[in-house]
Amino acid sequence: MKKDMKKKIIVGNWKMNPIALKEAMKIFSSVRRTASKLSSTHVVICPPLLYVQKFASSRAVSPISIGAQNVFFEEQGHFTGEISSSMLKNIGVNHVIVGHSERREMGETDEIISKKVQAVLEMGIHPILCVGEKERDVHGLYLDVLKSQIKNSLAKTTKKLIGQVIMAYEPVWAIGAKEPMDPAIIQEMAIFVRKVISDMFGHENAMKTLVLYGGATNFRNASDIINLGKVDGLLVGRESVNVPGFVELLKAVDAV
Ligand code: PGA
Repeated sequence: MKKDMKKKIIVGNWKMNPIALKEAMKIFSSVRRTASKLSSTHVVICPPLLYVQKFASSRAVSPISIGAQNVFFEEQGHFTGEISSSMLKNIGVNHVIVGHSERREMGETDEIISKKVQAVLEMGIHPILCVGEKERDVHGLYLDVLKSQIKNSLAKTTKKLIGQVIMAYEPVWAIGAKEPMDPAIIQEMAIFVRKVISDMFGHENAMKTLVLYGGATNFRNASDIINLGKVDGLLVGRESVNVPGFVELLKAVDAV
């Protein structure tokens, strides 16, 4: 890998899988073994919170970063069931998925998401901010939807901290689907995401912002999406808990 080349980022969102810690440990050690052999790809694993603590405190955690799938925006206090970004930081977490469409579906608004992004940034953790339209229409209204999601979710973010944000463009209709978005369109959408960020935070900051793609990625389509879609990495759901598939995906992406 050339010295000035950015590493590609592959984020594994395990969602609410697997059910047993033993299985989680098995997946984690296989992924870690493969990740240690990659030269141009950084792997971030976001397991359920119970396992996050186990993995984040394990000494042999490198070369994988451990992320959480959610966080609360307050630091501490009477918020039953919630976890704060300081708590995550204290156990060694450095990435958090914020605003995944499955959480938006449960009622998370752009305003809540913007508070979460800010809380995470203040702790020096990278938010992986998910945005994406639910459907595409012939009039291009989905672009307005996306623009307002980005603007509102980053409403509290400053120029100084925008560089820490990782954007994950995930068209909701592609999540859990059979096929991902066409890589040529992914490229256009990544340009659009950067354009909105450029309007908010300036061209230089936008060029530095990492933009990932998520939705129906697997070992067969990963290298095309990176190559032709010109994104900085992938947010992988299902395939991230399927060890053989994920291992192949990591190798394919590293070879791009
Ligand atoms: P998928 O999910 O890869 O299973 O389509 C992606 C996501 O939800 O981030």
